[in-house]
Amino acid sequence: MEQKEVSQAVISRLPRYYRYLGELKDEGVERISSNELSERMSVTSSQIRQDLNHFGGFGQQGYGYHVETLYREIGHILGLDKTHNMIGIGAGNLGQALANYANFEKRGFRICALFDKNPALVGTKTVRGIEIFSIDDLEDYMKDHDIEIAVMTIPKTSSEGVSARLCACGIKAIWNFSHTDLDVPEGIVVENVHLSESLMKLSYAMEGKK
Ligand code: NAI
Repeated sequence: MEQKEVSQAVISRLPRYYRYLGELKDEGVERISSNELSERMSVTSSQIRQDLNHFGGFGQQGYGYHVETLYREIGHILGLDKTHNMIGIGAGNLGQALANYANFEKRGFRICALFDKNPALVGTKTVRGIEIFSIDDLEDYMKDHDIEIAVMTIPKTSSEGVSARLCACGIKAIWNFSHTDLDVPEGIVVENVHLSESLMKLSYAMEGKK
């Protein structure tokens, strides 16, 4: 399907469309108008039409959107129609919590292995069947496995060094939970996640309502 130049703002809204359409699909809804979708999502119907028009021909006048098709197409745009193999760097509280969340796999994100420097964790336990390897074995593991994404849940003091090693091993993307902005070569994607920033926004919104 032909795609026009799409703004980051539109792209950032696609996961939400995808989530709502997935729910509709699970409820057995076959088609939906932009007005109905607008009510569900609390977004104006003109915004929905504008957003989805970027990707061409999903909706039809008087028919609305075919839920399954739109869900599949947005999934394709987001690259969710293939499996992405991942490794977790850091098997502490956060690393284990993410590895324990089985639903990432439904979206095609598979954590294949965890790495840590703590000998008390390495080789002694698994998380949902996922083995914990020594960080010293990172390069060997990467040579033998087709890994695209690293999930970084180690303290910021170590993350630059490990990130450089990952880049040298050919990692394509880093999902970075460490509280630091990583300096990576061009072409490597970094998505920073800061839960505390989300909490700060929440705090700001609460202050505004006083
Ligand atoms: P934790 O202390 O339970 O786990 C950190 C793990 O990283 C430990 O098992 C440690 O052995 C391992 N580690 C440290 N240096 C390493 C290295 N060079 N190579 C391999 N493994 C290494 O800490 P927790 O609670 O899991 O948090 C991890 C990091 O994520 C912290 O830096 C924390 O600040 C950050 N964090 C970020 C959040 C976010 O929203 N971005 C939310 C919560 C935590």
